[in-house]
Amino acid sequence: AEGGSLYDRIGPEALASLVRRFYAHVARDPDLAPIFPEDLTHTAEKQFAFLSGFLGGPPLYHQHYGHPRLRARHLPFEITPTRGRAWLACMNAALRETPEIGEAEARELYAALARVAVHMVNAPDTPA
Ligand code: HEM
Repeated sequence: AEGGSLYDRIGPEALASLVRRFYAHVARDPDLAPIFPEDLTHTAEKQFAFLSGFLGGPPLYHQHYGHPRLRARHLPFEITPTRGRAWLACMNAALRETPEIGEAEARELYAALARVAVHMVNAPDTPA
């Protein structure tokens, strides 16, 4: 539907496709794969639940898991600026592979995620 929340404009089916494609990229990314579990099923479920509420749809993450406390939840993982860029690159690639999401919605979603991603960075890049 036009004019509603980003969730309404994208819809749950396209959002689920996006999340699936995103983790397919994460699994193949040399910077990201080492810090993620091998089986990304549960991670993808949580991400879908989070994005549902984040985009103005049903607050599934809150309902099932409580407050996300995203920055604290990411602290056990070394999230460098390089990993932040890799995460966003995976999202950008997944968005381009998901034509069900229109260009305007894709741009808005990416911008919103980019704003959150900078706050997840919790470690410096180690010099080569
Ligand atoms: C979980 C990495 C950014 C939302 C995770 C996990 C890792 C991770 C390693 C744990 C996966 C698991 O154990 O299942 C990263 C990296 C990021 C990033 C490297 C780069 C900046 C983001 C952003 C969001 C986000 C921008 C939201 C917009 C989540 C959620 C979970 C999660 C909802 C599941 C939390 C839970 O276990 O309940 N992330 N993340 N992450 N991440 Fe990120």
